[in-house]
Amino acid sequence: MQFIVQPSAISDATVSVPGDKSVSHRALMLGAIAEGRTNISGFLAGEDCHATLTALTSMGVNIEQTSSTEIVIRGVGLHGLTKPEIELDLGNSGTAMRLMTGILSGQSFSSVLTGDESLKSRPMQRIITPLSMMGASIDSNDGHPPLTVTGKAQLKGIDYKLPVASAQVKSALLLAGLYADGVTTVEEPAVTRDHTERMLVSMGANVARADGRISITGSQGLRGGDIQVPADLSSASFVILATILAQQAEVLIQGVGVNPTRTGVIDILQAMGGDIRLENARLYGEEPIADIRVRSSTLHGGPVDSRLVSLAIDEFPVLFVAAAAAKGATKFSGVGELRVKESDRIATMATGLRSLGIRVDESDDGAVVYGGAITGGRVESQGDHRVAMSLAVAGTIAANEVTVEDVASVNTSFPGFVDCLSGMGVAIQ
Ligand code: S3P
Repeated sequence: MQFIVQPSAISDATVSVPGDKSVSHRALMLGAIAEGRTNISGFLAGEDCHATLTALTSMGVNIEQTSSTEIVIRGVGLHGLTKPEIELDLGNSGTAMRLMTGILSGQSFSSVLTGDESLKSRPMQRIITPLSMMGASIDSNDGHPPLTVTGKAQLKGIDYKLPVASAQVKSALLLAGLYADGVTTVEEPAVTRDHTERMLVSMGANVARADGRISITGSQGLRGGDIQVPADLSSASFVILATILAQQAEVLIQGVGVNPTRTGVIDILQAMGGDIRLENARLYGEEPIADIRVRSSTLHGGPVDSRLVSLAIDEFPVLFVAAAAAKGATKFSGVGELRVKESDRIATMATGLRSLGIRVDESDDGAVVYGGAITGGRVESQGDHRVAMSLAVAGTIAANEVTVEDVASVNTSFPGFVDCLSGMGVAIQ
C-alpha cells in the first residue's frame, strides 16, 4: 500500500483524531487486572491496541468491544489471569510487549511474547535486566523478542535507576511492582510520559512521586471504573504541521490529550514560530485535554532544546519535516533513542527527506536538517507508521507529487488518517 499526495491547499476545518495509543494500551491492561468492570470510551481501534486486547483475551479476560471506540472489560483482579495456550503476538507494539512483560513477570505461569519483524528487532534487555532483579526469569533472542517470561507470584521490590529515559520500561517496572514485596522505586533520568502513574492513581493505587522517583507498594488491588481516552497528540501533530505549512488555514482539533509529559512537540513548534493555541482546557479523569487551534505560520530553524526530547519522543519524524520546511538549519541532538523505534527514525527520515531534495547531516544521536524546497518523488517509510504520515505531510507542500511506499502500518496508530487529511483539503489517496 502507498500514499500518493499532491501539493494541496488546506481549508479551515474542525477535526477529530483517534484515541491516544499509550492510554488505550494502559486502559486495557489495567482494566484487565483490576477488580470489577472497566468501561473505556474514545479507545483507539488500531492494530497495536487490538494486539493487546487479543493477548489479554487469551489469558482469560472477558473484553467486549461494544462499538469501534467503546470497550467493556470484566477485570479478573491482580491474580486472575490464566496461562495462554498460544504465543502472545503483539504485532508492531513495543508498548504492548514491554508493559505486558511487567505484568507477566508477576504471574505463576510462563508465556511467550512475540511480534512482527520490526518488534523482533527492538531492544528488550532494558526490561529483562530489572525484571530479573525482581525475580522473573526471561529468555530472549539475544535481548530481542521472542521473550519467554516465567513469572513469580511474589516478586521482590527494587530501587532502580533507568539507564535510558523510557516510559515503557518505567511502566513495566511499576506494573511488576504491583506483584512485589514491599516498595518498587523507579528513578528516571528525564521526565517521560506518566499515563501509567495517573491511571494507577485513578484506579485507587497509591503511587508516590518526587524528584524524578516514582514508587509503588506491592499487593495493592486496582478498582475498575470509567476511562475516557483523550485524542492522541501524536496523531494530532500531523494535522498541526500540515496546517502550519499551509498557505492560509485555521484548524481546530478537538479533545486532544495535553498531558505535560507529551507536549514537547507543541513547545518545539511554537519555538520555531508555529501559531498553536490551547483552548477549553479540561480533564478526562487524571488526564488533561484541550482543543488545539492552529494557524498557518512561518517556521524558522535553530537548535532544538534537548530537554524536550523525552516529551516529544514520537514526534521527531514530523519535526524533521517541520525543519525541512523551516528557514535555516535545525539541529536535533540527544535523540539517539530514535534509532531503536519502529524503524531507525534518524536514518529513515534522513533518507526520505534527501529523496525530496532536502539536505540532512546525520550523527549517532542527532541530525541537522537544512530547510529548503521540497521536491516531489518516491520515498520509503520502511513500514514505520509515523515516518509514513510525516512524509505524507511533506507532500502537501512539495513541488510535485510525493509517493510514500509501505504505509499499511499507519493503521497501528491512526486509522482514518487519509480521511482526516482529505477532510482538510489535502489531495491524498
Ligand atoms: C510509549 C513510550 C515511548 C514511545 C512509544 C509509546 C508508551 O517509548 O516512543 O511510542 O506508551 O509508554 P519509550 O518509553 O521506549 O521511549
